Amino acid sequence: MWFYLALAVLLYFLIRLYRETKIVENLTEKYVFITGCDSGFGNKLAKQLDIQGLHVLAACFTQKGAEELERLTSDRLKTTILDVTSTESVAAATEWVKEHVGNKGLWGLVNNAGIIQPVGPNEWMTKEDFEKVLNVNLLGLIDVTVHMLPLVRKARGRIVNVASILGRLSFYGGGYCPSKYGVEAFSDSLRRELQPFGVKVAIIEPGYFLTSMTNAQYNLDCLDLQWTSTPQEIKDSYGHTYFNNFYKSLKENLNSRCSTNLFLVTDCMEHALTSQHPRTRYSGGWDAQFFFVPLSYLPTALADLILTWSWPKPAQAV
Ligand SMILES: NC(=O)c1ccc[n+]([C@@H]2O[C@H](COP(=O)([O-])OP(=O)(O)OC[C@H]3O[C@@H](n4cnc5c(N)ncnc54)[C@H](OP(=O)(O)O)[C@@H]3O)[C@@H](O)[C@H]2O)c1
Repeated sequence: MWFYLALAVLLYFLIRLYRETKIVENLTEKYVFITGCDSGFGNKLAKQLDIQGLHVLAACFTQKGAEELERLTSDRLKTTILDVTSTESVAAATEWVKEHVGNKGLWGLVNNAGIIQPVGPNEWMTKEDFEKVLNVNLLGLIDVTVHMLPLVRKARGRIVNVASILGRLSFYGGGYCPSKYGVEAFSDSLRRELQPFGVKVAIIEPGYFLTSMTNAQYNLDCLDLQWTSTPQEIKDSYGHTYFNNFYKSLKENLNSRCSTNLFLVTDCMEHALTSQHPRTRYSGGWDAQFFFVPLSYLPTALADLILTWSWPKPAQAV
């Protein structure tokens, strides 16, 4: 019995592997729009797809980012400036995409733009702190998707939404984890709605990678600022030792945990755009695949224990 079971599992993985290697035809005629191309995954994916011969429409947050990307890529790659938090900017980018793709429609939309700060215990935050992150990572992503959808439907194309392992396991306070849980929820309903139109939706869940977002000094400076603006009564409850230990553990995590191999994520994005049979979810990175995703399936009490065993104790902890 075990032999047949093992054989069935092996067969399943072999068939899946075979299906996943089948690539979409005429890729060099297809257009892909990517948000947040100034740096990190977006920047790398834009260059990667440009080398493959696709028509990359890269949205950058800054003029400097756009000029730098154009300098390093072929004439096929076009850039525009986009702030995903501004509906006027999103509408203008949609018109720009429409002009480029013409009757072909948009094959790929990659919602990659994101921010992480402020991060820290939830009690140190204000509503505005949460809003700042949610506006970019979740509402911005939704706005871009809703605007671009008619173009993607026309091409029976793909939507690739960048979430995070922090959209499966929430262990930092602030807007980042709620925004990524939101991306997961939005993508799930979108996938089910768009399936009849032949549009496929994939979610990318990277682990820790070294990009501008995870730059240690930037994050530590932001944490410092957050602590400074926290009301004194809350500071007293946590205590300065708590802050110091939190600061130290964030520094260690960012310095030691982040992978520099961004291809582990951009290859997943590329597969989601170019495979005839893309996956629904991609775990980007070894930490995501072998630690965080399995951890997310454990009983909550056990996952809590594993995630919090090294956390500092607040001064007024009972
Ligand atoms: N790095 C990781 O470990 C990690 C892990 C899981 C998920 N992710 C996700 O991966 C995605 C890309 O992040 P990354 O790590 O590559 O970080 P990154 O290098 O900071 O890239 C984020 C990009 O978004 C742009 N951006 C920021 N605010 C924007 C706005 N309002 N409108 C449009 N673009 C905006 C940034 O522009 P500027 O550079 O000009 O600010 C930058 O180009 C994000 O969604 C992030 O949450 C990252």
